[in-house]
Amino acid sequence: MGALQWIAMVVFCATFFQICRAVDSSADDKLLSLPGQPRVSFQQYAGYVTVDKNQDRALFFYFVEAETDPASKPLVLWLNGGPGCSSVGAGAFTEHGPFRPSDGGSLVRNDYSWNKEANMLYLESPAGVGFSYSANQSFYDLVNDTITAQDNFVFLQNWFLKFPKYKNRDLFIAGESYAGHYVPQLANLIVKSGIKFNLKGVALGNPLLEFSTDFNSEGDFYWSHGLISNPTYELLSAVCNTSQLWRERIGGSSLSASCSKVSDQLNAEIPDAIDSYDVTANVCLSSGASLLGVQNNPLTPRSRLFSSAESLQEALSQQKAQENIDLCVQEETFVYLNRKDVQESFHAKLVGTPQWTFCSSVVLYDLRNLEIPTIDVVGSLVNSGIRVLVYSGDQDSVIPFTGSRTLVEGLAKKLGLNATVPYTAWLEDKQVGGWTQVYGDILTFSTIRGGSHMAPFSSPGRSLAMFAAFLSGKPLV
Ligand SMILES: *[C@@H]1O[C@H](CO)[C@@H](O)[C@H](O)[C@H]1NC(C)=O
Ligand SMILES: *[C@@H]1O[C@H](CO)[C@@H](O)[C@H](O)[C@H]1NC(C)=O
Ligand SMILES: *[C@@H]1O[C@H](CO)[C@@H](O)[C@H](O)[C@H]1NC(C)=O
Ligand SMILES: *[C@@H]1O[C@H](CO)[C@@H](O)[C@H](O)[C@H]1NC(C)=O
Repeated sequence: MGALQWIAMVVFCATFFQICRAVDSSADDKLLSLPGQPRVSFQQYAGYVTVDKNQDRALFFYFVEAETDPASKPLVLWLNGGPGCSSVGAGAFTEHGPFRPSDGGSLVRNDYSWNKEANMLYLESPAGVGFSYSANQSFYDLVNDTITAQDNFVFLQNWFLKFPKYKNRDLFIAGESYAGHYVPQLANLIVKSGIKFNLKGVALGNPLLEFSTDFNSEGDFYWSHGLISNPTYELLSAVCNTSQLWRERIGGSSLSASCSKVSDQLNAEIPDAIDSYDVTANVCLSSGASLLGVQNNPLTPRSRLFSSAESLQEALSQQKAQENIDLCVQEETFVYLNRKDVQESFHAKLVGTPQWTFCSSVVLYDLRNLEIPTIDVVGSLVNSGIRVLVYSGDQDSVIPFTGSRTLVEGLAKKLGLNATVPYTAWLEDKQVGGWTQVYGDILTFSTIRGGSHMAPFSSPGRSLAMFAAFLSGKPLV
């Protein structure tokens, strides 16, 4: 071959390669296999989508295609809350992804993975959470709901450029806790934009929808579950209620004298070994773990700080799984996602942060945004014909089902939606899975009996049954 021909060949190949990449750039994101992973038949992808080219800001995603017949199944975008917690660590590896880390560095199959019903897209958002990053670190100094929703919206548009065959697929957006802000706000942007996304529904688990109603339901929940004394319950109603306590906690300055007294009483009566996100569960007793929450992330389930992955690994080897639920799965996930080989397989990089964490230690989220009500945004989605499910693990004392139920009932009244399925128990595997009520065939409230703040973790079978019903648009029975 002559030199000229050879050059032509190279140019052609390079051009051809570019075309291939433009047509299906998702090929770069395909995962061969994760370290310690059992063989599976479905495809997995992970990587970055740039949301701001000038500032080099990019969001990390983990995409798990449905276990069988992905072409016939919907696309579900999943967001965890915090604000600032990771959807890969919490959603995928703790709650409803295909694998759970176990000791010894292997992954085990999750029999109740949500990819049995849908193509699952886990998004770490906003930048600064998990493996998502902003090269310009000033971005982290003030992040809020507006910025998060906008970046998530840009993410979704750009993700569809990588995965065009999902563009016209039925789309659902689901999330938990502070995603009671993220999910409705993103859905609202999509509806308002007029871009055709095929958004069919949203699902919100133990969501923060309205500050006072949600947080004031905590006191009654503590008392009715026997966690506090009568005198403390009286203090909560007469001196400083739980929403006031939250308002002062996130306010940044020290607590008022009255709330401080109530806070001391609560701390004295509710031991550290009670997981307030699952009041009937036992906790992972990894020694050396501090019960300090990551200060910037108020709605962080069981957040603990560890000095290093090694000290955690040591602690974990002393504590083993109980019954069917591995109480230490969050800790094992922390170790797993901080392995170099795991990060390489995931196409993930750490930018401006020394390690992957469950909840961001760099993002300074505007916590005043917790007080923005999103229940009316949910109402406008319903008015746009988007199916809404609000579900609650009924053992969560942080965003108790009672507050969510009051809010959904109030919304139904406001929208003039009558009950189309009356309040009724639903069954899963011959046992009561929880209770449900449907309004106007479009707005559903469901509890998951025995479920935690992270219901798919604590009640995987019931959660999967509820998820399947939600996607199919059929009421739970
Ligand atoms: C970095 O981000 C901040 C805040 O978003 C912005 O004001 C600043 O101009 C950015 N710096 C550069 C070099 O782009
Ligand atoms: C978020 O920050 C931007 C920029 O400072 C501001 O324009 C916007 O109003 C803020 N949004 C909220 C909900 O606080
Ligand atoms: C309880 O909370 C509500 C809503 O934040 C507030 O308006 C009310 O004054 C509070 N009551 C007490 C006794 O703290
Ligand atoms: C809802 O129920 C009320 C009272 O039974 C009735 O007056 C109203 O017409 C119903 N609304 C719809 C939309 O069915």
